[in-house]
Amino acid sequence: MKEKKSRISGFRISSRLIVLLGSLSYVMVFAVINGSFGFLCSMGVTLMGAVGVAKALGEPIALSYGWIAGLAVGLGVLRGALRFVEQYCNHYIAFRLLAVLRDKIFAALRRLCPAKLESKQKGSIIAMLTSDIETLEVFYAHTISPVCIAVLVSAAVALFVGLVASPYMALVAIVGFIAVGIVSPLISSKLMREAGVRYRACFSSFNAYFLDSIKGIRDIVLNNAGEQRKKEVAARSDELLSHTHQLKYKIAGATAVTEFAVSLMTLVATATAVALVAAGRMSAGKAVIGVVAIFGSFGPVIAISALPGNLTQTFASGDRVLKLLKEEPVVSEIRDGEKFDFDSVEVKDLSFGYEKDRKVLEDICMYAKRGEIVGIVGESGCGKSTLLKLLLRFWSKDGGEIDYNGTDIERINSDSLLDNVTMVSQTTYLFDESIEENLRVAKENATAQELADACRQASVHEFVISLPDGYATAAGALGDNLSAGEKQRIGLARAFLRGSGLILLDEPTSNVDSINEGMILRSLAEHKKEKAIILVSHRESTMSVADRVYRIEKGRIREVKKSERE
Ligand SMILES: Nc1ncnc2c1ncn2[C@@H]1O[C@H](COP(=O)(O)OP(=O)(O)OP(=O)(O)O)[C@@H](O)[C@H]1O
Ligand SMILES: [Mg+2]
Repeated sequence: MKEKKSRISGFRISSRLIVLLGSLSYVMVFAVINGSFGFLCSMGVTLMGAVGVAKALGEPIALSYGWIAGLAVGLGVLRGALRFVEQYCNHYIAFRLLAVLRDKIFAALRRLCPAKLESKQKGSIIAMLTSDIETLEVFYAHTISPVCIAVLVSAAVALFVGLVASPYMALVAIVGFIAVGIVSPLISSKLMREAGVRYRACFSSFNAYFLDSIKGIRDIVLNNAGEQRKKEVAARSDELLSHTHQLKYKIAGATAVTEFAVSLMTLVATATAVALVAAGRMSAGKAVIGVVAIFGSFGPVIAISALPGNLTQTFASGDRVLKLLKEEPVVSEIRDGEKFDFDSVEVKDLSFGYEKDRKVLEDICMYAKRGEIVGIVGESGCGKSTLLKLLLRFWSKDGGEIDYNGTDIERINSDSLLDNVTMVSQTTYLFDESIEENLRVAKENATAQELADACRQASVHEFVISLPDGYATAAGALGDNLSAGEKQRIGLARAFLRGSGLILLDEPTSNVDSINEGMILRSLAEHKKEKAIILVSHRESTMSVADRVYRIEKGRIREVKKSERE
């Protein structure tokens, strides 16, 4: 039952992947035609030999020996050209389509984010972008056309043998094609399935463990746990090797069975031909042509029998990609809502939980308006970052209201929301580009003066100009060489550059020393005249700049009185 289900889904996945071909399907048809004729040409070369022998055996053949030889050479050359066109088309389709798929996946992720990347599925998304798309190359370049070619070539050969030699021999050929191209792949995929699943599970778990170990190598060294890790890596590697052995053993077995089936069928074809000639129902010349045609025709079906090894993996990749393309976002973009120019935000009785019956925030009430800095404090994990993300509609609230200028967030255009509200999250991501380009993410056409001003406000200008190439220094290349505080301040500069009416700062100074913190807080205080700033921080010192402070405790919020803060 289970097997049937997976085969149906394999069929469904294939058809959906084929639909993605779109206008490229014409190129695919062209590839299949070229591939089929190419294969027939290659058969034609040996067949011309058989025709020559048949002529020598007295078969009335209109072609002279010269023509036969010439045709053999011509077909050989043509086969090369046709094969080239087929392969070119297939790879053209595959790589064009992979580019299209990458675009589609990126568009889907943009639609699904940020909720999607905030979720625990982050790892599998990255795996999809890196390996699944590559795996689909196998499907588009090496699966569709071989299957079509096998069907067309087999049909053509059966027809040819039936017309030229004998219908009995055509029947033998058809049975052979079905045995090698359908029965054998089905049996071998069944035999290989379990070993394949075990191998892939072990392979991905090994990869994940190995990658994790490399990423965390610093912590391994710091904890002097290298020896232990090394042993575990070796043990897992041995396990993977044993699964590889088992799978390869099965693949070798399947190949042997296929080859055996081919040999058996050619033997049966020869025996049939001999019997027909002996019974006087077919001439020796025709028998030679028929047998040679059948001998040379198994190539395409053998190619299919070699598919099952890859196919399960291809289908798994295809399934993941298709599911992502179809996935509905947790929060959909609002296009027909209202635009606004930030003045105030008011949160009323807001409640939210990531999981159904576990509320992170309950009955949250707070407000912030232009000209003030509002602080939010609370223990780690109490929901401070969650509240900020809700203000940006990363997720939809479960209950209550978030009103911007009196309009609920669900009735505001997503674009307008992102223009009016900027968040500096707890970790700033720097792209593998120059510092200047990294800043321009916030404002594409910012002038050099604007960049420098924003960096001054974030207390990072002095640092940037002290670098060898100043603003042109590659931030990605510096990577880890940039301190956490420096990265954080570049993130902050982005927020200043963006110029939104409301800035949400999630621990903006957690990695900054007190001198730089003082400078940043002073520029925040200067900024607040034309903006509202919501500031999340653990540090009491950071809160000194806030006009009003809220504390979140066990999912609920309360305003901290002035007297409590002193
Ligand atoms: N994407 C998510 N899916 C499920 N649970 C989440 C998710 N993000 C956060 N949580 C949980 O929600 C709770 C609040 O998390 P949040 O990040 O808002 O805390 P925080 O107050 O910002 O903590 P910190 O001060 O450590 O940054 C935590 O229990 C956290 O484990
Ligand atoms: Mg947080």
